[in-house]
Amino acid sequence: MKKVLIIGSGGIGRRHLKGYGQTGRAALAIVEPDAGRKAEAMAMFGLTEAYDSIADADLPSFDLAVICAPANHHVALMQRCAEVGLAFMVEKPLAVTMEGVDAALALVAGKGIVARVGYVRRVAEEVIELRQQILAGKIGTLRLAYLNSSQEFPKYRPDFQRTYYARPEMGGGAILDGASHLFDMLIWLMGKPTHVTCMFDRLVLEGTDTEDTCLVSIRFESGAMANVQMNQFQKRNVAQFEFIGTRGNLMVDHSTLKFADDDSGQWQEQHDYMDGLVPVEAHQARFRLQANAMLDAIEGKPCWLATLDEARDNLRVALAAKQSWLEKRIVSLA
Ligand SMILES: NC(=O)c1ccc[n+]([C@@H]2O[C@H](COP(=O)([O-])OP(=O)(O)OC[C@H]3O[C@@H](n4cnc5c(N)ncnc54)[C@H](O)[C@@H]3O)[C@@H](O)[C@H]2O)c1
Repeated sequence: MKKVLIIGSGGIGRRHLKGYGQTGRAALAIVEPDAGRKAEAMAMFGLTEAYDSIADADLPSFDLAVICAPANHHVALMQRCAEVGLAFMVEKPLAVTMEGVDAALALVAGKGIVARVGYVRRVAEEVIELRQQILAGKIGTLRLAYLNSSQEFPKYRPDFQRTYYARPEMGGGAILDGASHLFDMLIWLMGKPTHVTCMFDRLVLEGTDTEDTCLVSIRFESGAMANVQMNQFQKRNVAQFEFIGTRGNLMVDHSTLKFADDDSGQWQEQHDYMDGLVPVEAHQARFRLQANAMLDAIEGKPCWLATLDEARDNLRVALAAKQSWLEKRIVSLA
């Protein structure tokens, strides 16, 4: 059994508590400054070890930390783990500004610590299969991607006005909170981003200081390009990610992977990786898969979860997207 410290027991911290619990490979403890939430999480998951602050925990006695506090706390918490040589997985996004990021990453690299970032789509079967088919050359050379993830966010997170989501300085909004998942998919599949342009605004949602809509265009080192669209108010739940190569197209449509390489207008192949599963349960199952991947990583096994460097590129895309619209220009990441 590995000793795993979940830092922050809010929405995502509880998904990780469940996910690590389901692996059967982890003994769990939490850090949670909110007394009510701490007591609730302890009761919910039968925990006997809990701390109000990371300063109270005996960090070297743990094998892994899972950082689930809002993103404005991530740098300080990564830094603390790195100082004592504790492996960690940090939730996305890596941070909310670049302040302190490079110093924390340098410390992690210097200590040789295993560290990954919680872009959970990397364990989704349809995304893994998409990647394998692209790498196998099924669509020729990948040159373009159109990604649209849009749904009525308040329906899925009714407390959104009271969470970090409502505040840009805590990592809220469509770009850092939502589109950052799509940036990760692009960085994984298309490589290093070089240029970013964007428009964003709060078009509909009330009671937040953050954007509910963004239209982001990204160019990659290979010359390939991508367009990311997100709104967080529309009724229809869309999650369509199309990858266009020189010989064909692959699309992930929610959990269905589709392929076509002719002009019939029909998909020639399609497979739903969640067929017969309950969506909420299938989504929670990803946190078990991610936990197993992270536990494998600290045992020295291969791991394809996002690296800190990839998440740093991702954060730079998000910050460049905001800068692009505020300054009305294309931002170079060179
Ligand atoms: N991977 C995903 O799909 C996904 C989904 C939702 C949220 N997230 C990410 O997870 C992080 C947390 O989001 P959430 O929805 O759980 O937020 P939340 O507000 O529900 O919970 C955050 C918890 O962290 C606690 N906290 C605050 N400061 C702390 C500190 N210094 N040390 C320990 N705990 C602290 C808070 O008291 C709270 O209980 C964010 O970075 C968010 O972007 C990821």
